[in-house]
Amino acid sequence: LVKSEDFSVEEIDQILSLSQNIIENPSKYSRVCEGKLLATLFYEPSTRTRLSFESAMCRLGGSVVGFSEPNSSSVSKGESLGDTIRTVSCYADAIVMRHPVAGSAEEATKYTEVPFINAGDGGNQHPTQTLTDLLTIKSLKGSLENHTIGLCGDLKNGRTVHSLVKSMSRYKGIKFIFISPDELKMPKYIKDAIQEQGHAYYETDNLDEVIGSLDILYMTRVQRERFENQEQYEKLKNYYILNKSKMQNAREDMLVMHPLPRVNEIATEVDDDKRAVYFQQAKFGMYVRMALIVKLLEVM
Ligand code: NCD
Repeated sequence: LVKSEDFSVEEIDQILSLSQNIIENPSKYSRVCEGKLLATLFYEPSTRTRLSFESAMCRLGGSVVGFSEPNSSSVSKGESLGDTIRTVSCYADAIVMRHPVAGSAEEATKYTEVPFINAGDGGNQHPTQTLTDLLTIKSLKGSLENHTIGLCGDLKNGRTVHSLVKSMSRYKGIKFIFISPDELKMPKYIKDAIQEQGHAYYETDNLDEVIGSLDILYMTRVQRERFENQEQYEKLKNYYILNKSKMQNAREDMLVMHPLPRVNEIATEVDDDKRAVYFQQAKFGMYVRMALIVKLLEVM
């Protein structure tokens, strides 16, 4: 799984249904991965993605090896990505990798002998966050069709929004509203892809103008680590701050989502609003990763 389009709509449906089943009957799945080993190779920082994968594998009865600090592995001695992946696929039954270079996940699949999962490659894609987001939307909104989705923040560098838009554009009745400063607009190749699917999109830098029309507001962090110019980051980092007063103009049933980590873009005063679902979303992330592991290891 390198990009969010790698699974068909039917396969995504299966994974979401399996996730729902795991949520309802966790004990049925608690030993299905006994004797299986998952490797998590994290060349970039992570809290939710790595720990939710590791929790997912443990809750399925499997085990986990890996690193979260590449300097503690032979990467620091100059080992190539290909050699690392070849070696780890001798040990583990599946590999999860996060890497700062866009395209590195595709590269890694040339060397792996076992199922490979992209946990984020630079500013490119983050398909398991998208599975998380789809499960959240389906569970809380009932359907993946007929939604107006506002994506707000760093749409240029945010891999979660690239994967989510590509994936959501395969469902009926989706309208995208891209809310960002000029410097952080959604890349053209993503906009072209949604137009090809026959969807409309609208771009603005004004959150207040559109918040009242949204079914879902997907907030994102300005991706400091992708900026070459730190001054520009400082200028843009607090461009949007969602607070209680802005939420007053939103619909009663709008969902506020965020892949997390949050920096300043959502004020903590919003956390108690019933429409703020980002911590629930993180929990859905563990269940959807359990379903993904079950599918890729073909244990059921
Ligand atoms: C995201 C990521 O790593 O792209 N985090 C996550 O996996 N939930 C979002 C981010 O870092 O802003």
